[in-house]
This record gives sequence, structure tokens and C-alpha cells, in this order.
Amino acid sequence: MGKKNAFPILIEGLKKMEYRGYDSAGICVGHNNDLMLAKKKGRVVELEKDFLNEYGVCSLDGSCEKRYELKEIKGGMGIAHTRWATHGEPNETNAHPHFDCKKEIAVVHNGIIENYNALKEILEKEGHIFVSKTDTEVISHLVEKFYQGNIEEAAIKAIKLIEGTFGLAIICKKENKIIVARRGSPVVLGVGENENIVASDVVAILPHTKRVIYLNDNEMAVLMQDGYAVKNLDGQNVEKNIEEIKWAAEEIEKGGYKHFMLKEIFEQPKAVENTLRGRIDEDNNVKLSLDIDFSNLKRIIIAACGTSWHSALIGKYLIEKSANLPVEVDYASEFRYRNPIVGPDDLLLVISQSGETADVLAALREAKQKGAKTLGIINVVGSTIAREVDSGIYLHAGPEIGVASTKAFSCQVTALLLLALFLAQKRGVKIDKEIFVELKNLPKKIEETLKNSDKIILLADKFKDAKNFLYLGRGMNFPVALEGALKLKEISYIHAEGYPAAEMKHGPIALVDSNMPVVFVATKDNTYSKILSNMEEIRARGGQIIAITNEVSQDIQRLSQNIIAVPRCAEELSPIINTIPLQILAYHIADKKNLDVDKPKNLAKSVTVE
Ligand code: F6R
Repeated sequence: MGKKNAFPILIEGLKKMEYRGYDSAGICVGHNNDLMLAKKKGRVVELEKDFLNEYGVCSLDGSCEKRYELKEIKGGMGIAHTRWATHGEPNETNAHPHFDCKKEIAVVHNGIIENYNALKEILEKEGHIFVSKTDTEVISHLVEKFYQGNIEEAAIKAIKLIEGTFGLAIICKKENKIIVARRGSPVVLGVGENENIVASDVVAILPHTKRVIYLNDNEMAVLMQDGYAVKNLDGQNVEKNIEEIKWAAEEIEKGGYKHFMLKEIFEQPKAVENTLRGRIDEDNNVKLSLDIDFSNLKRIIIAACGTSWHSALIGKYLIEKSANLPVEVDYASEFRYRNPIVGPDDLLLVISQSGETADVLAALREAKQKGAKTLGIINVVGSTIAREVDSGIYLHAGPEIGVASTKAFSCQVTALLLLALFLAQKRGVKIDKEIFVELKNLPKKIEETLKNSDKIILLADKFKDAKNFLYLGRGMNFPVALEGALKLKEISYIHAEGYPAAEMKHGPIALVDSNMPVVFVATKDNTYSKILSNMEEIRARGGQIIAITNEVSQDIQRLSQNIIAVPRCAEELSPIINTIPLQILAYHIADKKNLDVDKPKNLAKSVTVE
């Protein structure tokens, strides 16, 4: 909202936000008492192409008969959305923005309106005509129902009837204002010079301003030409601090790499260095300023999703081994619906790159409500989870834009090791000081590991047409096998399973034949000889072994023609070192298949719906 033409700003903003959802996109700009609309199934570039071809923007006045050319669009007020479908298939009709019957009010919305069916029924009885299959459209019709010349008042009345989650923006062609509101879905307000920009992620705001206000649940903001106001949902003003985003604008660009994922894989030495920075002092004490009383702590429960859940599994090994404290790991989505037994002697640790994952947030709130202490390991500063935990450890990994998580994983495991050592200090458990030397060398070892890239590209070529992959590891490297399999399946669409290597005999070995590549994480630890036996078992059944190892022994060479050698490191750090080749392998297989690595189908970067 401001004096500049909103249209190019919105298109660029959508491109930045696209990693959050990309099945359809839409824009609505208000100008001269008209709303101009463009929607398209597919990516933002498709939407943009229409304008470049002078297909023009459709005016809602006169049922799209009047089309504006690009040069005619000058409005300083606009909203836009890139969608990850929840209700209604991805198509042009279901793309946001959604309108009221008179096409005077436009709404974009993240989240899920849980009572939309009931509301829709009432609205239809009152004569409202719905055109889409989305839950969002009820908001536009509700606002229309209450609109009597004041969009802010109508929005408040509509929001009071909505159940579920929302981060939404509303405009009305008769007023020069944008109303935004949040409950459960992030909304950030960027405060610029003579303009204010709202988005669900700071990445869309960063090119315009670094000064932001994070809305809390049940807050709204009104953006006007000459300012903004933050209010509660009763319309009363709320005092908010303006915070400064620390990321540099270049960090959200590809910087010469073909994909964000590749860039982020290669950023890992720096990212891990940033996670470690200032957290180990000269006397090898871990310094974490955590505002939590650990004295009567009996148990840690870690809740997370996806890749962050894999780092949580590694965290269990690390904390139990170093700090001698029991740890349970839960999928956040399961924790929340199980009526978990937690209380004041427990610490709920949530791990989330985005800090916005709905299931993790719900688990956090559940545990808090039951009196547990809460701690977060989070990347995105100012995210909802970061603001709701009692205390937290930021990763400082920089923005992660590729949908497949890479550098966040390495930084999460690093932060978990720091936490494990910190807890060991607090609990008086002896620490082998060698680990600090290893930790300080970690960025260099990651760099060394990344040098394997060319060899892995050859393997990607060899195995890119496989239909299935098996990933096997033991101990701390079992979660690495899970992570390797997840990376491959999410970006290359090849079916892959991760398994504890010894468990394979109890079922999955039936799948093994000469067409099955089996990736072994076989680095030297106390399970090394066992894992060699597991490799023999696969070899005996004709499986093609890819071995990640720091011990290129005669045995390994006999068992595998596809060896990826990684540097030696402490066992605690091996999950980081060993995951890197698996990230590179998945990346190059997907790239060789010409797939859109950064935006795999059906996925979204932050899953802000349950
Ligand atoms: C996989 C991936 C997802 C996320 C998961 C949790 O590569 O990126 O599995 O790890 O959606 O996201 P955060 O960490 O943001 O809570």
C-alpha cells in the first residue's frame, strides 16, 4: 500500500513467496474505484506472461469485458496470493483473490476456515452466489454481508464468525485501505518509506524494507496511503514494536546457482559456522542464554515434522549420550492429538526451520497449557513458534528457500549437539573435550565433503532411472537414512525408504534385487562391523550398493562399486557429514530428470495448515 504502482511489487513479491505454495496465483489491484484482477493456474511466471503478452488485466466492472493493458495499471493498493490447495482443486476459479457477489471486495487468505460449510449454507440461503470450491470465499461474502461503507468494521464482524486459522488481506474498491488479520497463520507488516507492505513471510518484504511488525494471533492491521494502525479484533489500537530484519537482500537470491537447493547445500559450511558462532567460549564451555530452569528436568520430548523430525531423532541420540537425560521424539501432528502426558518436569523442545509449521505450533501450545517448559530450535527470527517458546536457539542459517530442507538440517543437528553439551555441563556429566575441537573443525569438514560433488554427479547419472531406492543406516545414522530417502522422494519422485540397517532383514529385504540401489551409511562407529554384514546380505541378493564411508576398506571396496568417501569426524557429527552426499545425490538425480527441484509438486515450504 503506497503511492507506487502495486502491480510489479506484487508480482515480485509473489515470486519470492512462491516456495510457500505454487499451484495457482492471482493479483487484484484497486485503481480509480475499480478492482483489476488476474488469476492463473500454475506458477507466477504464467500469470506474469499474460501481462507481458498484453493479455491485460481484467476489470471486475462489466464482467471482465474491459481489459486493462499493463501500462494502464497504476493503483497503489493491491493484494496477491500464490496458493497451495487445501479446499478445491488448483484451477483459475479456486485461485485467490476471492470476491463477493458485487465484485467490490477481494480477499486473499492462508489457513483453513473450519466452519466454512455452515457459513456458506447460511450465506447461500441469504442469496449469496459462490463461484469457487474454496473455504476462503465465505470471507468475501461475509464481509459483503456486513459492509455498510466501512471495510474495517465489516471485516471485524466477519472475522468474529470465522472458526479456524487465517492470515488474510481484504480490499474494497470503494476504500483506499488494506485490512489484514491473523489467527494461526503468519502475517508480517513491513514499514517502508511512504509505503507499507504485508506478507506471510519476510522474504517478500525484505527488498522494500527491513523494518517489520509481527502481528500476533487475533490482531489486525489497517494499511492506508499515509500510515498504518495495528489493532485487536475489537478494533482497539495495539502498541507494537518495529523490529529489524537481519537478513541481507542478496540472501534471498540464487547467487549464480541453478537452484536455491544447490546454493543452500553449498552454504552449509557458513551456515553451521553461524550456528556455532559465539556459543563455545575459550574454555570450551557451551554458552546458550536459555531462560529455563533445568534443575528438576526429568525428560525432554522433541516434537517436529519432516526433516526437522529427523534431526530430532538425532537429537535423542546426542542428548541421551552426552547429557544422560531421557528423550522422546514425536511427530508434532501425533503428539497434539494423543492427549500427551506432559507436565512441569518435562521440557518440550520444538524444532522448526520456518517457525510456522501448524502442527508444531499446536504441539507447543498443548505442552505449554499442560505446564511443560518449552524450548525452540528455530531458523526464522520472529516466527510464531520463536515468539511463543519460553526460550530458544536460533540457527542463524540464513533464509532457506528451496522447499527441500538442507542447511537447516545441518544447523539443527549442530544446535542439538550444543544443547546436549550444555545440558551435560548443567547436569555435571563429564564431557570429552575432543568434541569441541571437532565442532570447531566442522565447517571445514563440511567443505571437504562438498568436494565429492563431481563423483556424486556420476552416481546420479547411473542411478537416475531407478524406480526404488533403499537407504540404510544404524545408530545416529539411521535418521540420516530416513533423511536421504526423504530428500530423494520429495524432489525426484522416486520411491525411497529409509530403514535401520539391521531391521531390513525383517521385511524390506524382500524388495532387494539387481534393480534396487541400496544406499548404506557405513561410517566407522561401534556398529561398523555389523553394517558390513548387512551389506553382505544385500550383496548376496544382487542389490547395487552405494556406500557412504570414511573407511574405504577392502571389505567396502569388495561390496560396493559406488563409494562416496567422506572425512573422518566424531560420531556425533557424522549425521551432518553423511547427510551432505545424500542431499547432493538427490539434487542431481532430480536435476537430471529435469524436475523443478526448488518447487517439487504438491509440496509447500511452510505447512501452516494442520
Ligand atoms: C523436507 C522438508 C519438510 C520440513 C517440514 C517441517 O525437506 O523441508 O519435511 O522439514 O515441513 O518444516 P519446519 O522445519 O519449517 O517446521
